[in-house]
Amino acid sequence: MKQPPVYVTPEALAAQATAMEAVAAHPKCPGSYHIVTYGCQMNAHDSEKLAGMLSGMGMAEADDRRNADFVIFNTCCVRDNAERRALGNVTWLKELKKEKPHLIIAVCGCMVQQPEMAEKILKQYRFIDLAFGTHNLHELPSLLLNLLNENHRVVSISHEENQIAENLPLKRLCKHHAYITIMYGCDNFCSYCIVPYVRGRERSRRMDDILREAEGLLEGGVQEIMLLGQNVNSYGGGTSETFPELLRRLDQLGIPRIRFMTSHPKDLSDDLIDVMANSKHICNHLHLPVQSGNNEILALMNRRYTREDYLRKVEKLRAAVPGIGLSTDLIVSFPGETEAQFEDTCSLVREVGYDSAFTFIYSPRIGTKAAAMEGRIPDDESTRRITKLIAEVEASTAKAHQSMLGTDEMVLVEGLSKRDPGMVSGKGTRNITVTFKGSAEDIGKIIPVHITSAAVNTLRGERTER
Ligand code: SAH
Ligand code: SF4
Ligand code: F3S
Repeated sequence: MKQPPVYVTPEALAAQATAMEAVAAHPKCPGSYHIVTYGCQMNAHDSEKLAGMLSGMGMAEADDRRNADFVIFNTCCVRDNAERRALGNVTWLKELKKEKPHLIIAVCGCMVQQPEMAEKILKQYRFIDLAFGTHNLHELPSLLLNLLNENHRVVSISHEENQIAENLPLKRLCKHHAYITIMYGCDNFCSYCIVPYVRGRERSRRMDDILREAEGLLEGGVQEIMLLGQNVNSYGGGTSETFPELLRRLDQLGIPRIRFMTSHPKDLSDDLIDVMANSKHICNHLHLPVQSGNNEILALMNRRYTREDYLRKVEKLRAAVPGIGLSTDLIVSFPGETEAQFEDTCSLVREVGYDSAFTFIYSPRIGTKAAAMEGRIPDDESTRRITKLIAEVEASTAKAHQSMLGTDEMVLVEGLSKRDPGMVSGKGTRNITVTFKGSAEDIGKIIPVHITSAAVNTLRGERTER
């Protein structure tokens, strides 16, 4: 059993609420804010918490960073390019600050939580006014108050890796679709991955807190919830509050659609498959990152399953949940990956038949085990591999889409189609985008659609009467 999480105390949260009031009444309180978010859904949801706190301090949301008095970059560092993009954009704001000296620039999120980042920000990025990490996001009000009162830069990074802050204000981006974090952090230490270092130890929220949040969302008219965690399958950390049990309870609430991510294949249990098979509301889609199709590489990655284990689980899942769609994450050019090992990943894609996949070139991350491994693959070879892998994934996607021709899908409409006037698009339960004739009135509704044509990027269909 894992160490129980440490909850941020009600007193500490009350102190933040008081700081929020003080910032709102402060003569130098920024009038508007803009948040730029990088990285995964976890970060997107953190930005909803930041927005909740900033709105609570009376700031209005600006549609563009140029129009804001306070800009926050919520960063990611999972790969080098994510980090460089964030830093490049922050540096761009340095120019804006020359025109607008009152502009406050803040950085937070995973990149900031890396070792030695605080020193780097203090020395090299002198135009950044405020920096905080993933573990003290809830302290934004008091950090901002310090900045306004004392007029010097505030860099505050906590190393409390086991904390949970409940009941933070939230400004959700969307009314019909909502994220719910069920657990924070990760203890898996896949050898290439920096997430456990910047998101802290794996810790789960109390089931009652999650159920209460879901009930509130249902009352507010939500159509779909997405449960978030780096490895949702190990929710509960060995207590009686398990992920399958949580899903069972959520399914009974009657929220039209339930999704979750991410599932680590090693922890995909029979019990979970059983819940998925017998639920009313869990979508028939699973994101199941495999990373590689080769057993030696999987061992070096510290993934703790083999290609055969993975395929067995996929088979079980498909037998229990007919028509389930699968998606995955894949990495090419892990240190020492041979051509034959890379080909194993391509053959696995063909064998599983994914609806879609995110493909990445391995990026060394300081402090991870793989960063010290030998056998770096040259860039041009990595480009060749990823190009080939993308073509394999596209062929797989095309096949999956073809198989849906003539079927009926329930589509949750997300918005007007950007490319086709008079059309709307949304996701079917299998998480594939479907486009059909409609108007703004359809947004946020679940509509039955008959699939009439299939391309690699999207399915098209016609609304069916019910
Ligand atoms: N917890 C999730 C997601 C983690 S990050 C999971 O375990 O699946 C999302 C994806 O980024 C990973 O699945 C992996 O494919 C990719 N990734 C992580 N670290 C990487 C690195 N150093 N280089 C390239 N891709 C990486
Ligand atoms: Fe990273 Fe592995 Fe944890 Fe996912 S499970 S966040 S890839 S260490
Ligand atoms: Fe997510 Fe990037 Fe952090 S993928 S957890 S925002 S490092």
